[in-house]
Amino acid sequence: MKALITGANKGIGFAIAEALGKSGVEILVGARSESRGQDAVRKLSTKGITASFVKIDLDNFDTIHNATEEIDQLDLLINNAGIPDSYKADRPALDQKKTTFDYTTDDLRETMEVNFFGTHEMIRSFLPKLAENGKIVNITVPIQPNNFWHPLAYQTSKAAQNVMAMTYALEFKNTGSSKQIFGVMPGGVATELNGHTVGALDGFIKSAEEAGELIAKLVLDTENHNGQMIQFDGKIVTDYEVQIHG
Ligand SMILES: NC(=O)c1ccc[n+]([C@@H]2O[C@H](COP(=O)([O-])OP(=O)(O)OC[C@H]3O[C@@H](n4cnc5c(N)ncnc54)[C@H](OP(=O)(O)O)[C@@H]3O)[C@@H](O)[C@H]2O)c1
Repeated sequence: MKALITGANKGIGFAIAEALGKSGVEILVGARSESRGQDAVRKLSTKGITASFVKIDLDNFDTIHNATEEIDQLDLLINNAGIPDSYKADRPALDQKKTTFDYTTDDLRETMEVNFFGTHEMIRSFLPKLAENGKIVNITVPIQPNNFWHPLAYQTSKAAQNVMAMTYALEFKNTGSSKQIFGVMPGGVATELNGHTVGALDGFIKSAEEAGELIAKLVLDTENHNGQMIQFDGKIVTDYEVQIHG
């Protein structure tokens, strides 16, 4: 079994690579930086995992198309890469102090470029390479704003990504395809994306390794998850009321 994981050089992406690799899956480490990607490949290899580097920058479609040409067939496409705010933002981590009123339209557009358009281009481009029973898995978040956490650009880009995934799922079902696409929501995970926040809610934030294990388990089970948005505890988020299981 072969999996391509975007943003696999660190954080949750690397942890998914490790967890899937330990289960015998061959890992294609998608990363925008060759040196960071090759470092991850080395780390995985020392753990006995078969891994190789594939350059993928969601903000540069040429890299996506080149990668598609290099790869014959995929069993799993894990769309993990994502950014917390505009790729032009100064801070690499989510700015928890930025309020809804501080966001510009450009912030939203530039976040969409990576989280939504980049992810869509991955799906569109790799779909013909996906095995008959292949799975596409988006690593995502719930869309309902709450008082603890509601970063405008990030959350709206993920909402668009979630709806896009469910629309593909509907099309898989309607065309009798045995391919699947679904979202996994790992909950709060301490990574660079949130400045390794070990937040106000004690015990709520998990490590990347814990998240990677949870995600790998869902990805490798034998259930049909097409069209589902699944929480870290296995609960299916029903707020989306996707009409494909009725
Ligand atoms: N952390 C959480 O609490 C949490 C919760 C739910 C969902 N998620 C989702 O999980 C995913 C991974 O996040 P994380 O927390 O592991 O964050 P992270 O540690 O910041 O890792 C983000 C990954 O995405 C890559 N990336 C960023 N821009 C990219 C681009 N233009 N093209 C390709 N790769 C790019 C980064 O590469 P570089 O190293 O080159 O920057 C890095 O590998 C994201 O989609 C995030 O929304 C996170």
